[in-house]
Amino acid sequence: MKVLVLGSGGREHALVWKLRQSPRVTRVYCLPGSGGIAADAECLPGDLKNLDALLHTANGIQPDLTVVGPERPLSEGVVDEFSRRGWRIFGPTAAAARLESSKAFAKEFMQRHNIPTAKYAVCSSDTELREALELFGPPIVVKADGLAAGKGVVLCATSEAAAKVAGDMLSGKVLEGAGRRVVLEECLEGEEISFMVVSDGERVIPLVAAQDFKRADDGDTGPNTGGMGSYSTDALLDDEMQEWLLTHVARPVVAGMRAEGFPYKGILYCGLMMTARGPQVLEFNCRFGDPETQPVLMRMESDLLGGFMASVEGRVSDGDLKWSHDAAVCVVLASGGYPGAYEVGKKITGIEEADRVEGVKVFHAGTTFRDGAFYTAGGRVLGVTARGADLAQAVSRAYSGVGRIHFEGMHFRKDIAARALKSVS
Ligand code: AMP
Ligand code: GLY
Repeated sequence: MKVLVLGSGGREHALVWKLRQSPRVTRVYCLPGSGGIAADAECLPGDLKNLDALLHTANGIQPDLTVVGPERPLSEGVVDEFSRRGWRIFGPTAAAARLESSKAFAKEFMQRHNIPTAKYAVCSSDTELREALELFGPPIVVKADGLAAGKGVVLCATSEAAAKVAGDMLSGKVLEGAGRRVVLEECLEGEEISFMVVSDGERVIPLVAAQDFKRADDGDTGPNTGGMGSYSTDALLDDEMQEWLLTHVARPVVAGMRAEGFPYKGILYCGLMMTARGPQVLEFNCRFGDPETQPVLMRMESDLLGGFMASVEGRVSDGDLKWSHDAAVCVVLASGGYPGAYEVGKKITGIEEADRVEGVKVFHAGTTFRDGAFYTAGGRVLGVTARGADLAQAVSRAYSGVGRIHFEGMHFRKDIAARALKSVS
């Protein structure tokens, strides 16, 4: 089978790497891919923002299955367009992807279906904002309704700060219209968990859980980023809690979307806060998490293609996915300045040496390749991912890989999975 993966980040590199291991996959294409992904897939030039050109390229290669990495093409209807042409594609339609592309839709949907989530208010004018602010005590979380590439959520310490942040979003001063509607939310406390399931529109099967490290700096300080690292172990979610999340979150979402006329197929990513009053949904994503996918796929023992085909063909069933009890960890190496302004084009050394460390695979998140060397080409550059018999071994292998890599301005968190390690030792 010929498989086409859309995207260019670390998540897509991990998808390509795992798909290549499938005995049924004969060719893996990645559009646009990257310098690093080119080692594991045939990269095709293209721009995911240009749906017509994308359809033209896909028509040329006639993939047997297409897998979509990022959210934007999903929210712009790539699945609708491919399906209309009779091409198999893994992911939700644009209408179903509103669970991620509109936070107001997601909150109202959760309320309609009794899915546990933080108290909220949706505002589309200054008057509504003023009224809503009366209902919340600080701290207040302000969220732009639309897609904002990880920049749409601000935790505000005071009501005045929330008014300013939300006001700037509503006026279009920031985020170019993604914040023309805003969601205010009560601030929740607890451990965050990323829980992904595969859905065929009716049934769901879980992937192993992961934890993402969103803040730029050690000790969960600094600004939010796309994710500076992640890990996955069995201990993150026991069987009882997994069943609870399936019963109270994942299955009701899929049943609710189906009942409302928008069957949800693909990956449903549930971002959860494990609070003292139980798990609460922070957000849904309509695709694989990045960088959670890197350690999660490292633990997958079954054929990833099988899971995708089961979703596309509407026959997802328990036992489709098999998992190792090993732990896996991903440490992201970012460009100097990220998540703010950063420079690209820095020469990277040591990737091969890192890849040679036992259990390590270096996934490329933003690199180019020229004249025999890799250069930085993004904010997040590499995801050094390692598997180990336990978390301590996975962490030690990942950081051993990190220690071999260098580029000017490189920064990374030194405490990925450290809290979990401390609690088991
Ligand atoms: P979201 O894109 O909605 O997941 O928000 C991004 C990040 O902001 C989350 O991963 C949390 O770290 C944080 N966050 C979002 N909503 C809340 C909330 N209600 N309380 C506390 N933190 C939140
Ligand atoms: N790591 C969080 C996300 O992919 O949105």
